[in-house]
Amino acid sequence: MSERPQAPRGTFDVLPEQSALRLTVESAARRTLEAAGYRRIETPAFEDTDVFRRTVGESTDIVQKEMYTFTDGGGRSLTLRPEVTAPIMRAYLEHGMHKLAQPVKLWYLSSCFRYERAQAGRYRQFWQIGAEAIGSDDPAVDAESILLLHALLGELGVRGVRLRLASLGTAASRARYRELLQAHLRAHEDRLSDEVRERIDLNPLRAFDSDHPGTREVMASAPLLLDHLDAEDAEHFAQVQELLRTAEIPFELDPALVRGLDYYTRTVFEFTSDALGAQSGVGGGGRYDGLAEELGGPPTPGMGWAAGVERMLLAAEERPVPEPVCDLYVALAGEAPELRATAFALAAEARRAQVPAQLELAGRSLKGQMKQAGRLGARYVAILGDDGIALKDMESGEQETVASPSAVVAHVLRGRHPG
Ligand code: HAM
Repeated sequence: MSERPQAPRGTFDVLPEQSALRLTVESAARRTLEAAGYRRIETPAFEDTDVFRRTVGESTDIVQKEMYTFTDGGGRSLTLRPEVTAPIMRAYLEHGMHKLAQPVKLWYLSSCFRYERAQAGRYRQFWQIGAEAIGSDDPAVDAESILLLHALLGELGVRGVRLRLASLGTAASRARYRELLQAHLRAHEDRLSDEVRERIDLNPLRAFDSDHPGTREVMASAPLLLDHLDAEDAEHFAQVQELLRTAEIPFELDPALVRGLDYYTRTVFEFTSDALGAQSGVGGGGRYDGLAEELGGPPTPGMGWAAGVERMLLAAEERPVPEPVCDLYVALAGEAPELRATAFALAAEARRAQVPAQLELAGRSLKGQMKQAGRLGARYVAILGDDGIALKDMESGEQETVASPSAVVAHVLRGRHPG
């Protein structure tokens, strides 16, 4: 016998119970975001590779090591989306959404693909719920966006949540700061890890992320970007913080907050949960005022976040798995083909009347069928026999004879909506 295939490493099947839980996450996101004017968007699972190269950044881990890139039959380089912000900006520009009232608020629930080392909470295919507000640089957009993720995590009962916040300033102030940081790193080059040393030119900020002891010591005295923002960026950041305080959302400033994507400007943030292990980031995001231009569009500010569905579920309080509802089970007390036809028609008629109904499909004995109806939690069982239909109320145990399939449906509907 040949070996049975399994789901690829770092991927998982969403089985029915988990799918029911995921639906609760999706519903909570829809409620929270649509109440704030966000509308759902869906982009393709793959994009031209350039969409990510130009935005996420050539020097990031995502572009350097983690993208699932392939050449299609027509010789184009395509990439399974490692994230959704760049595709959404691509769609915003492609569909002329700048003509709509700004900001345009969009939310999504999308699969993402990253070739990462698989472990608990870190997968190669995972799902993100995200929200993007494009077309306004008002600090209230930043604060509102953060508040919405805070509300969603609260609604889902995500435990031990902490919010870390920083500002990266604009490209110009960051460029000035980068030089300062590079000078600092070069002055202590001999104490840095090889990886950090090799990236001094390309991505010196990543040094803040390092676990290497020597590098950490060097970084303890490194200049901080938050101390080198220009006046407008500092004012913008002060207003974001003020609004968060007004909304009573606790946060910590983290001058070393590093996000793994290059498109950020000004506000960046991350929510972590102490209920998660090493992969403690539940959701994060920030402002990306230069992203539209990187995709060849006009200057267009934007702000948003994404949160991992699996990480939110891992970090949330356990909740009961919603059970599927069965109001009517159609059982057979005989073997005549006409009975089977009537049973089939009855189940279909019930569903047309919005009564969740199931039909015996496994050739069980009548006793076995009653047991199965019990397992399904059926409210009523219609027993079709040679001498008519009996309807059993599984709550009271009472049984009565019913004239026709339509009468069964009417009875069940009445029973479901007493009075
Ligand atoms: P990100 O921080 O790379 O940001 O990902 C957002 C969230 O996706 C993380 O906080 C985490 O919950 C989840 N996540 C990331 N990688 C994995 C993985 N390998 N397995 C499971 N979950 C994962 C972004 O993707 C930005 N596009 C967020 C954003 C939106 N910024 C502005 N707008």
